[in-house]
Amino acid sequence: MRAPVVAAAVAVMALTACGGGPSAEEQRAEADAARRAARADSVAQAAAAYEAAAFDTIQWASDNDMWERGGVVWSFSCQTCHGSDGMGQGETAVAASLEMPNLVAMDWDKAGDLAAIRRSIYVGHESQMPSWGLVGLKYRDIDAVAHYIDDLLRAEE
Ligand code: HEC
Repeated sequence: MRAPVVAAAVAVMALTACGGGPSAEEQRAEADAARRAARADSVAQAAAAYEAAAFDTIQWASDNDMWERGGVVWSFSCQTCHGSDGMGQGETAVAASLEMPNLVAMDWDKAGDLAAIRRSIYVGHESQMPSWGLVGLKYRDIDAVAHYIDDLLRAEE
């Protein structure tokens, strides 16, 4: 059993001892905390491995080439959570009640900031955003999909 799971189990037992047992909401919060703790190591590892300068040497034959590649990555790896339009209503996200950001919101804080977008894709987040740099997306794929979000998805809104 992994440490976070044990911690969650202990917390649930402690709640039960207080009488009444945990509510469904408390149990969901515990499960969420355990999932976040399990993801924290990957996020830290990805943050340490991330090399922003690796993007400097990436070249594309044309913008269309880049967007095409980005669209493939998006539909294959991202839209199940972020939705085809980037608003965050993908079926996996809905099924797991994930709190999703709206990547095409007018006031998105990473709009136009390719460096920030690429980094958040590579590194991921405890709240179930995968650490894509560790699970198989190459810098080139990340560059393509970052442009796909910022240049195309956002332009459609
Ligand atoms: C399992 C669901 C899931 C998948 C699959 C997923 N994401 Fe995410 N993503 C999330 C969640 C949840 C967050 C919110 C993280 C946070 O709380 O900051 C997020 C955050 C982001 C952010 C940062 C948003 C912000 O406002 O800071 C970007 C950019 C992003 N995802 C892009 C992608 C791309 C590109 C892919 C595919 C390569 C992808 N995501 C696949 C769940 C997912």
